[in-house]
Amino acid sequence: MSELLLGGVAASALAAEFGTPLYVYDELELQARSRAYLAGLESYPEASRAVYACKANATVAVIAAVAGEGLGADVASAGELAAALRAGAAPESVIVHGNNKSDADLSAAIEAGCGLVVVDHMGELDQVERLAVAASRVQPVLVRVTPGIDADTHQKIRTGHHGSKFGFAAADALDALDRAGSLLHVQPSGLHVHLGSQINQLGTYAKAVDWLVSFIEEHGLGELPVLDLGGGLGIAHAPGDIELEIQPSMEAICAHLTDALIAHGLPMPELVVEPGRSIAGPAGTTLYRVGSIKRAADGTVYAAVDGGMSDNPRPALYGARYTAILCDRPDEEGRTVYTIAGKHCESGDVLIERIELPELHPGDLLAVPATGAYNASMASTYNQLPRPAAVMVTDGHARLVQRRETVEGLLAREV
Ligand SMILES: Cc1ncc(COP(=O)(O)O)c(C=O)c1O
Repeated sequence: MSELLLGGVAASALAAEFGTPLYVYDELELQARSRAYLAGLESYPEASRAVYACKANATVAVIAAVAGEGLGADVASAGELAAALRAGAAPESVIVHGNNKSDADLSAAIEAGCGLVVVDHMGELDQVERLAVAASRVQPVLVRVTPGIDADTHQKIRTGHHGSKFGFAAADALDALDRAGSLLHVQPSGLHVHLGSQINQLGTYAKAVDWLVSFIEEHGLGELPVLDLGGGLGIAHAPGDIELEIQPSMEAICAHLTDALIAHGLPMPELVVEPGRSIAGPAGTTLYRVGSIKRAADGTVYAAVDGGMSDNPRPALYGARYTAILCDRPDEEGRTVYTIAGKHCESGDVLIERIELPELHPGDLLAVPATGAYNASMASTYNQLPRPAAVMVTDGHARLVQRRETVEGLLAREV
């Protein structure tokens, strides 16, 4: 390969036209990954749906690409809801999350006609009832339960363990279902679990399914029409990382659930999954321009790029590992070990600890793949750095989908 192409467009042309740092999203990849979820779910004998977790990347064009394939939207704030609706998601396909939803979050969701609200604490049931009365609606809800499973992932993105800030402990989930059933404008529709994110072992899902099926049987909950297993499938960020394939993973989860329900003599609820990272992550690449290159006293060779922890906080937050590609010589063997640093005023602002790359020079263009999830959506403006622009690439064409933030825009908030 003579130079790196993204969606058929030269990375150098993208950087020249749209500047750096630049988020680049591959539309065909977003669509193919979305379809893989639907294909995997087809193996489930009852109704099923995949609902894209907008927190992974709430860029309207990204949500639109996914919703266009027939996925719903999972939102965790009124802001994500607004993005999902603007992207064309049907309100009834929207599932509303949050461990501390405000009245504004919930009333926006209820008034828009969102399909399901996932209730996360007891007080929320009365909140939904009050706001549903005001909107003259009966709101279907799921009760989020924490099964006490330690997912095989970083502790900061584990959510299904005892001690999680999310969901109800098992006994409280039963009380929540009872309470929901006693409210006139709340309709208890099922259970929800989300074990965590960047999960790489299907056995983690199997444990959750086993736990849920036993819980449903033990407490006579078989008539609840919906079972939502959340999201969490992991992706490869760097060479050597494991990546579970979407369709076979979904097929394995569906088979395990079907067998467990049959073995316990339970009816089959509608199955919902909420993927985020595994759809958006591999579809995104960030382009950076190299600036300063220097050797520290201990021999570390730093190449600093024009972004960093503001556009990708994951290495600093979770020690996430990424790789980088020199865009004009993607196939050239690396001879020098670099530490790719950002430009922020923090020593922890390092995107990649040690990577072998061809000799770098100021002005070189670097691509960091697998940055489509939890990068743009977690970006900050630390050091008053305007957030990057985003482009969608498809079949050799690029279109701007999110404007670069400006310093004037940042200052416009000041009063
Ligand atoms: C409730 C819920 N559903 C779905 C997701 C999406 O997870 P992932 O992006 O790992 O697929 C999350 C993310 O943390 C979540 O909290």
